Amino acid sequence: MNRHLSARDALPASLSRRDLEPCLLADARTLPAPMYADSAFHLFDQEAVFARSWQWVGRAAEVRAVGDHIVAEVAGRPILGVRGNDQALRGFFNVCKHRAGPLALASGHASQLQCKYHGWTYTLEGQLRAAHEMQEASDFDISCIHLDPVRVGEWQGLVFAAVEDPDMTLEQVMAGIQERIAPIELSALHFHTRVTYEVHCNWKAYVDNYLEGYHLPHVHPGLNKLLDYRAYATHTAEWYSWQHSPLDGTQGPYAGGEAHYYFVFPNLMLNLLPGRLQTNLVIPISQDHCRVMFDYHYADMESDAARAMIAEDLRFSDEVQQEDMAICERVQRGLESGAYTAGRLSPRREAGVHHFQELVRKAYREALDRK
Ligand code: FES
Ligand SMILES: [Fe+2]
Repeated sequence: MNRHLSARDALPASLSRRDLEPCLLADARTLPAPMYADSAFHLFDQEAVFARSWQWVGRAAEVRAVGDHIVAEVAGRPILGVRGNDQALRGFFNVCKHRAGPLALASGHASQLQCKYHGWTYTLEGQLRAAHEMQEASDFDISCIHLDPVRVGEWQGLVFAAVEDPDMTLEQVMAGIQERIAPIELSALHFHTRVTYEVHCNWKAYVDNYLEGYHLPHVHPGLNKLLDYRAYATHTAEWYSWQHSPLDGTQGPYAGGEAHYYFVFPNLMLNLLPGRLQTNLVIPISQDHCRVMFDYHYADMESDAARAMIAEDLRFSDEVQQEDMAICERVQRGLESGAYTAGRLSPRREAGVHHFQELVRKAYREALDRK
């Protein structure tokens, strides 16, 4: 079905199988600098990693009613998630079969899908229903024309899509998270705000940085006071890792309980504080630029105390993010400098980085194997 440029068309010249061998944490070297600095890896990442994984594309609350739809891009490809007349959620490429126009420009609601270019209409199930002024076209049978499907799935109120066939189901990817964070129900939290950041580093440098608390005392003096660095721990599962720390703060969202930071390969972060979920989605834009979207969700957004807590949460998260962006952008310059090839990892503090980088190596190996 898919005729998109394949990973083999995009193999970076500097990619070597030797750099992709699995390694144990104690022996591990980081991913080599060209994987962050060589522009050939941008397209390769899209095909080897992003097209083959489950990507978060929206909230189930956006597609509750028949005709609700979500517009998104996965691995640079336009897609659409639509609630059909039978209540099933379906995914399609947002690409009309006439001349590749878009069926929807933004998330919203419609009783049918009408192409924004010349107005062909499709049912919510993706079947072409009407194509005006096509009577003279020979062998043109609208019943044979259907939008290309995309796999979609829902987990805890979040909607995901996969444009290629990933090796794993969405349930396999997320296995164990729900049980571990209980009694928190992510689907019971309400969306509040999205804040978008443009970060001038490779997406993998941003993810690496997220995955360790090693930098906390040096980069985040404020946050370090609220978390217990000594008790900060990292665990890994097959497709995700998680960090957690007891909260030492006296007020606001950091007052008591635990912070959980889940990273779902390759680019989704679920940051949980009591009564609050902040998702981060990392989108590669080019080799040295990623876009990071922070969505804030809360159990309570109404009371005065909740409003004050949310204002403080947004302010403080932005402060921490500015600190992370500044260091990630410096690291990107270091990776591009020619003065760095690969380094060693702290087995005590960088297990999450190692886990992520092993999954990147695995995705790259599999792309080479498909050659
Ligand atoms: S491209 Fe969709 S109607 Fe022409
Ligand atoms: Fe950080």
